[in-house]
Amino acid sequence: MASTRFCEQAVIVTGASSGIGESLALRLADEGAWLALAARRADRLEAVAAACRQRGGRALAIPTDVSDEPACRSLVDRARQEFGRVDMLVNNAGLSVVALLEELHNLDLFRRVMGVNFYGALYCTYHALPHLIESRGRLVNVSSLGGKFAIPYNSSYVASKFALGGLSDSLRLEVRRHGVSVTLICPYWVVSEFHESYLDREGERKGKAGRALYTARTMTADRCAQITLEAAYRRKRQVLMGPGRFLIPLQALAPGLADRLILRSFMRSVRRRQSEGPRRS
Ligand SMILES: NC(=O)c1ccc[n+]([C@@H]2O[C@H](COP(=O)([O-])OP(=O)(O)OC[C@H]3O[C@@H](n4cnc5c(N)ncnc54)[C@H](OP(=O)(O)O)[C@@H]3O)[C@@H](O)[C@H]2O)c1
Repeated sequence: MASTRFCEQAVIVTGASSGIGESLALRLADEGAWLALAARRADRLEAVAAACRQRGGRALAIPTDVSDEPACRSLVDRARQEFGRVDMLVNNAGLSVVALLEELHNLDLFRRVMGVNFYGALYCTYHALPHLIESRGRLVNVSSLGGKFAIPYNSSYVASKFALGGLSDSLRLEVRRHGVSVTLICPYWVVSEFHESYLDREGERKGKAGRALYTARTMTADRCAQITLEAAYRRKRQVLMGPGRFLIPLQALAPGLADRLILRSFMRSVRRRQSEGPRRS
């Protein structure tokens, strides 16, 4: 039987049209939450909202580009208008550019990643904050292990997620007195549309080939959503997922060794991807 931890809680989820955000929406709907779902692809978002309503939750699809501050403001206003309050905001929308910084033609793609992963979360948070304070609610920021230790070819992604981590840690100290919790979620690889949405230095999507790095053991989006909701409910400060976790303390103790391990493991997965091609369609 589904839990009812979030029953009749008004929740905004960004990046809800696929992957982890979609799984979060479906799980929350199973628990009877009231959902305001945001992403750019209106058709995909409406399909997720319809699936949520079928499961018994209230769900509103609100097409939103989170890199646009006025759009984030209206997302929050609309959720508040519809449900009368906002109990939880999940900043989950995200994307990545995979290229060396020196290869980028200019900084437009870098700004685009910061605009979604960092500023998108900041805009939604800023406008939702008075409502979260009112409800003694929960803020959940979906970062990445790449927001805890750096990897090559992802400088904009890593910068955006480190910034999101800093924002989360600072805000946690500020809103504690209001009873609002801030939970930082740091997944390792998760099966979703994330890796096929990787942009190269020309801004072209990687496509299905991006899925080549998944193995049978790669975490599913549903499992990631389950862990995320448990952490949010318990008002945990952060969750680190996957085998890369041990690198975080190692970086403090032996940063040179950590750098070598990261480079070796990153290059190994790049070579595997190149030699094997896509494993799943
Ligand atoms: N998958 C992984 O291995 C992994 C690992 C660590 C962290 N994460 C993090 O998990 C989060 C969710 O990613 P995912 O794995 O579920 O990938 P995904 O399936 O590609 O989902 C990304 C979501 O973000 C939305 N999005 C992208 N740009 C947007 C924008 N400008 N405005 C609004 N929404 C936007 C996408 O919707 P539209 O395209 O419809 O806008 C989509 O719903 C991301 O923050 C990612 O950094 C993922």
